[in-house]
Amino acid sequence: MKEYKAKIISRRKYGSYHIFRLALDTALNQAKPGNFVLLSTGKSDQILRRPMAIYSISESEHWIEILFTVAGKGTFHLSQIEPDTCLSVFGPLGNAFDPPKKSSSLAIVAGGIGIAPFLYWLTSYATELTNVKTFFGFQNLEQSHVLADFEGLSADIQHATDDGSSGFSGNVVECFEAHLKKHPFDHVYTCGPPAMMDAVQSLCKSKKISLSASLEARMACGMGVCLSCVTDFEHDQKTQGYSLVCKQGPIFHQSF
Ligand SMILES: Cc1cc2nc3c(=O)[nH]c(=O)nc-3n(C[C@H](O)[C@H](O)[C@H](O)COP(=O)(O)OP(=O)(O)OC[C@H]3O[C@@H](n4cnc5c(N)ncnc54)[C@H](O)[C@@H]3O)c2cc1C
Ligand code: FES
Repeated sequence: MKEYKAKIISRRKYGSYHIFRLALDTALNQAKPGNFVLLSTGKSDQILRRPMAIYSISESEHWIEILFTVAGKGTFHLSQIEPDTCLSVFGPLGNAFDPPKKSSSLAIVAGGIGIAPFLYWLTSYATELTNVKTFFGFQNLEQSHVLADFEGLSADIQHATDDGSSGFSGNVVECFEAHLKKHPFDHVYTCGPPAMMDAVQSLCKSKKISLSASLEARMACGMGVCLSCVTDFEHDQKTQGYSLVCKQGPIFHQSF
């Protein structure tokens, strides 16, 4: 990993989702689906960079995209930044999703900004896979317009909205569960709010489906030094105590 200068060359917005395309001074080295970067907020009194999943990437054109919503001061400041502003990116960081097995029946279940790692995942793997179903959860119709970014991918994407304004009416776990009654899966990938991931985990446990969960935690160094990102999440590699989301994760595997 290393530090890059990153210039905002374009930005777009779907409801509360902001997407920035950042031109880097050189190609982001050896990034893989599931990795994240630490991004400066452009405000001098906000020293810590914020972790953001790599939403999409062009190695040849040296850009990455990030998708974010406003959660607090840092992301609020980011949301106000004008194009052509230069930020700093540090990465790529964290582990990556294991490349999927072609013969497996796979599901992606993601809600809110938890969809962020899966555009890169689907762009990298969907054409090789015949048996992957994607379930995305949004608050409303405006957010679901982000699905425009997923058009053209050979992926079966279903979506749910909390207010019933588009797709399945209800939360994404209910949408996934309805499908699960008719269609068994070998493995599930998930990312989203903690309550959503808990529900997905319980379902997977009850059906004995293995799981890859991309976790969030507050971070400072992003490199396993400051210990600010500990989690007690149970996972296959856990021996005892806590794990570091930035270094051992953010993706953790669970078999049941
Ligand atoms: C590996 C990883 C990838 C991420 N990818 C994305 C992404 O693609 N898009 C996106 O919008 N967000 C992503 N996040 C979350 C994002 O980093 C936080 O929302 C952001 O750092 C909040 O900064 P802030 O200054 O706006 O909020 P703060 O003012 O620092 O906090 C606002 C609120 O958010 C909570 N919070 C802050 N950071 C986190 C965190 N990391 N996890 C959970 N709660 C937090 C605080 O407790 C507080 O309640 C990711 C986090 C991780 C760890
Ligand atoms: S963020 Fe410092 S150890 Fe994980």
